[in-house]
Amino acid sequence: MSNKKYQQVAESLSQQILTGCFQPGEKIPSVRASREQFNVSMTTVQTAYGILEDSGLINSRPGSGYFVSRLPDVDHLTPMKPQDISVYNRMMSVLTECHKEGVTNLGTAVISPDLLPINQLKKILNKLTRYHMLELVSPEFSSGFLPLRREFAKRMLNVDVEVHPDDILVTGGCQDAIALALSSVASVGDIIAVESPCFPGLLQVIESLDMKVLEVPSSPVLGIKPDALQDALMNWPIAALVLVPSFSNPTGSLMPVVNRKKILALSELYDIPLIEDDLFSELNYQGKPLPAIKSMESNANVIYCSSVSKSLGSGFRLGWLCGGKYHRKIKKLKAFRNVSEPLIIQMLIAEFMKLGGYSRHLKKLKMTLHQNQKWLQACIHDSFPEGTRVNLSDGGYVLWIKLPEQCDSRLLFTQAIDNGVAFFPGDVFSQHEHYIGYIRLNLAIEWDNAIEKAVNTLGELIHQQIEMNQREP
Ligand SMILES: Cc1ncc(COP(=O)(O)O)c(C=O)c1O
Repeated sequence: MSNKKYQQVAESLSQQILTGCFQPGEKIPSVRASREQFNVSMTTVQTAYGILEDSGLINSRPGSGYFVSRLPDVDHLTPMKPQDISVYNRMMSVLTECHKEGVTNLGTAVISPDLLPINQLKKILNKLTRYHMLELVSPEFSSGFLPLRREFAKRMLNVDVEVHPDDILVTGGCQDAIALALSSVASVGDIIAVESPCFPGLLQVIESLDMKVLEVPSSPVLGIKPDALQDALMNWPIAALVLVPSFSNPTGSLMPVVNRKKILALSELYDIPLIEDDLFSELNYQGKPLPAIKSMESNANVIYCSSVSKSLGSGFRLGWLCGGKYHRKIKKLKAFRNVSEPLIIQMLIAEFMKLGGYSRHLKKLKMTLHQNQKWLQACIHDSFPEGTRVNLSDGGYVLWIKLPEQCDSRLLFTQAIDNGVAFFPGDVFSQHEHYIGYIRLNLAIEWDNAIEKAVNTLGELIHQQIEMNQREP
C-alpha cells in the first residue's frame, strides 16, 4: 500500500471496482461518505477521486456524483502513425445503404423530422417572407447576420465562453467551420491529430484537404488521453488538433475538466491550434454543460466550432466559429469562398433563438434523447447476446456498442441491410481496423414498434453470427 492517504483511498476504491464490488454504471459512495468511511479530509477524497477519474475507472456526473465507467479505459494502446486517409468511398457506400427505401435507419446521426419544432419554424418563416422579403434578398458582406451572432454569443455563455458577436463567424455548419479552420492553420501534407475513434465527417475533411491524420488513442468514457497526446506531440510534428470534448461522436465520451486543462496546456506548450468541436455540449442529459476548453484559454489558441445541425437538422447548414488569434485569417478565407450563408436561414434561426423557442426545444430534445437511450439499452439487453457492452453516456446523440468477441460489424451491416435495418459499422470511424467489432446507433429518433423490431433483428443477426463462428472456427 502507498503512504499517501489519497493514494490509499484511490487504491482501495479501484480494488473494489476491479474486483466487481462496484459494477459498471453503479454510483460509488459520495465524497462525504468516503470521508467518513476512510476517516480522512474532503480534499483527500477529492484527490483520490480525481486519480480514479484520470485513470478512466470512474466518471463524474455534475450534480449526481461519481459512477463506475462502463467500458475498459482504452481499447487499444497501439501508438499510431500519421496516415494518408481514404474514408470517402467507404462512407458513401454506408450512407447510400442507410438511406435506401424501406430501411429502418439507426445509422446516420441526424435528427428525425418528428422531433423538430416544425410549426414554430413555419410561423417565423411565414412572417419573414411576408414582412422582410427585401431584407432577405439583400446582400450580406459581414461575418454573418448580427442578431444571429448575438444569439450564438449568448449560447456560448452556457459553456462559460464570453465572446463579442464581432468575434463570431457564421459558417455553413460545424464541418464547414472545421474545414475553414484547418485550411487556415495547416497545409497539404500536414499532420492533424484527432481522437480515435473519430467522426467520419472529420476524416473526410482531412482527406479532402490532402492532410494526414494521426489517430490518438482515446477513452470511450473520458475522451483523448493527455499522456497519449503528449506522446504523439513528442513524436510527430502535429500541425493542429481537433477534439470533441463533450459527448464525442461515436463514443459519447465526456472529457473531465482536469483533462481539458491538461490538453489545453499541451496545445499551448507545443503552440499548435486546438480546434474544439462543441456541437453536442448543450445536449447534456443532467446538470449543466461542462465549460468549453475555449473558456480556459490564455493565449487565444482555441478555435471554437459549433452548429445547429444536431438540434434543428443538418438541412439548415448553419454553424459558427470563434477563431481566437486565427480569426482574421479564417474570416478572409470565408470571404473568398462563399461570402456568407443564406440570409433567410440566418434570420429564421436568429428569430427562433431570440423568442426562446430554441432553449425550450433543446430541453425537450434532451429528454427524448435520454429516454431513447434507456429504451435502446433495455432493448439491447433483451435481444443482443451476452458479451455486448453498451457505452452509456450522459448526453449527446449516439450509442456506441461493443459486440461480443469475434463479431464483425461489416458483415453484420450487409446482413442487416438485407433485413431492412441500418446502423453505422465501427470501421467508418477510423483509418484502422480497431473498431470492426463495434456499431453506432442514432438516438435522435422517434421511438416506435418499427425501431424496437429493428433492434431485435440486429440482436438475432448477431446471435446467428456467433453461432456461425462457433460452427466454423
Ligand atoms: C462531432 C461532429 N462534428 C461535426 C459534425 C458535422 O456537423 P454539421 O452538420 O453542422 O456540419 C458532426 C456530424 O455528425 C459531428 O458528429
